[in-house]
Amino acid sequence: MSGAPKVLTTVREAGQIRHAHDGHRIALVPTMGALHEGHLELIRHARTLAEVVLVSIFVNPLQFGVGEDFDRYPRTLEVDVAALADEGVDYVFAPSTSEMYPAGLTIPARHAGPVGTTFEGAARPTHFDGMLTVVARLFDIVGPNVAVFGQKDAQQVFLVRQMIAQNDWPIELDVVRTVREHDGLALSSRNRFLDESQRGLALVMPEALTAIALNAPLGVAAARTAGRQVFAAAPLARLDYLDLVDPKTFTAVSDDYQGPVTAVIAAVIGSTRLIDTDNLVLGSPEADS
Ligand code: PAF
Repeated sequence: MSGAPKVLTTVREAGQIRHAHDGHRIALVPTMGALHEGHLELIRHARTLAEVVLVSIFVNPLQFGVGEDFDRYPRTLEVDVAALADEGVDYVFAPSTSEMYPAGLTIPARHAGPVGTTFEGAARPTHFDGMLTVVARLFDIVGPNVAVFGQKDAQQVFLVRQMIAQNDWPIELDVVRTVREHDGLALSSRNRFLDESQRGLALVMPEALTAIALNAPLGVAAARTAGRQVFAAAPLARLDYLDLVDPKTFTAVSDDYQGPVTAVIAAVIGSTRLIDTDNLVLGSPEADS
């Protein structure tokens, strides 16, 4: 298919895609809109995995806590659909809240478990239950063969992978590397909240990741300390957490750990919460072999 994507707003229409494309692979790219180059990379990757690409655009109220940025989260559907036309996306699913949650916004139907209460989950206690609830609902409606997520939201990726495995769903999960600006800042829909000086301050995120990577051969404590020192030198950036987690469990590694880790960082710049992440190997190079 080519040209402008077909914009679907009802669950019934989106549910028919599976039948309309019987025998073809469907890739789902779940988004909350305000699309940037990072999303477009997910979509380009999805195109290599399936004949049919469906992008969902839904700012999911269930994954925002009280006092978070649900109301100010950018909603740019028209611009988003135009960008998706350029990428040859087949379908955009942009439902209303009542369409997604006909029984109303009550308690999330999915629970993230212990990993959902740490890092992002500690700062945003209902976030991951709400995120999993909408992702499970999208999986149920669309029935994709593959879903594509961005690496930047590493904890989200871990939890979605865990949900798929626990339910034995026949859905592949593909992860696409983080897209960065020329100076290293990870693309995020929330970057548009940053003014010029905050945008400069936000560079502590990639700088801390670089410091962690440079010190990774020296081990956990050196790498973690190097990352935290970058934040210590930029007190206007309020560091929430900076840690190194085992990608298999998403728990912080102990000081004697050697091997693959995911560095995770969250900080508040002005009133904007940003996260960033990197995958690296800690300790001597032999540790990974
Ligand atoms: O990563 C996001 O944009 C959201 O958490 C997702 C996966 C679209 C669910 O609302």
